[in-house]
Amino acid sequence: MRKLILPLLAAAFLAGAGSAARAHEGPELLHPGFSFEGVMGRYDPAALKRGFQVFHEVCSNCHSLNRVAYRSLAAIGLTPAQIKSLAAEREIQDGPNDEGQMFMRPGRPSDAYIPPFPNKQAAAAANGGAAPPDLSLMAKARKGGPNYIYSLMLGFEDTPPADVKIPDGKFYNTVFPGHAISMPPPIQDDVVTYADGTKATKEQITRDVVTFLNWAAEPELDERKSLGLEVLAFLAVLTALLYALKRQIWKDVH
Ligand code: HEC
Repeated sequence: MRKLILPLLAAAFLAGAGSAARAHEGPELLHPGFSFEGVMGRYDPAALKRGFQVFHEVCSNCHSLNRVAYRSLAAIGLTPAQIKSLAAEREIQDGPNDEGQMFMRPGRPSDAYIPPFPNKQAAAAANGGAAPPDLSLMAKARKGGPNYIYSLMLGFEDTPPADVKIPDGKFYNTVFPGHAISMPPPIQDDVVTYADGTKATKEQITRDVVTFLNWAAEPELDERKSLGLEVLAFLAVLTALLYALKRQIWKDVH
């Protein structure tokens, strides 16, 4: 029995190493380095605001953001007045009213970001058969997270290699699995104009919108990291106190 253990352990180890290596397969992702990465990382407030602008002006023409209510945009610095007028830009179905009829009304701050299409079928029909997925949790949903979205946005190329066939209505993307994506390249230089004077290069716009999408998926990141640091500081002080106490108690015994 004992003789079996080592080979078994070795086999288990190799299997584990193998699947870890396989997990790294797939296209190389860009790692631009985001302000919110690392223990001390925090969201860049200006990037969040710009990123929301990009989502609002570009991505929201096709994608929903069902888990973000207009009023929660206060956390990235939108004023109540801005939130109110933003919500009212689109209409949403409500009801039934006293006559039993459904009706359309302008959005309110308490509504979730109103989607561009009334349902998935309409979204798919307008996009060559592939419905644009909801972006609320996208930064968590894909392997590579923010780096994946960043690389996807910058992974569009005009001419696919000779051995890759792209069907009509689809676009070549080096990062998307299968390389044929139904999303037309959404980001070009100057597709938005930034109020804060930041130069709207493709890379900048992409970095900003990815920062915003990461916030949408993980709005509590800043507090979580601050709390973590506070807990560590508290534990350090507690350790020092306990050590002093231990020395005090044992000082006559040694
Ligand atoms: C013209 C419509 C359109 C616009 C504008 C658009 N998208 Fe898309 N997007 C799509 C469609 C359609 C898909 C589904 C693609 C597929 O499955 O082939 C998609 C898929 C995606 C995906 C998922 C890819 C995956 O791995 O499944 C991400 C992430 C994404 N879009 C991000 C964005 C961002 C960020 C913006 C704004 C900068 C944006 N999109 C703008 C239509 C659009």
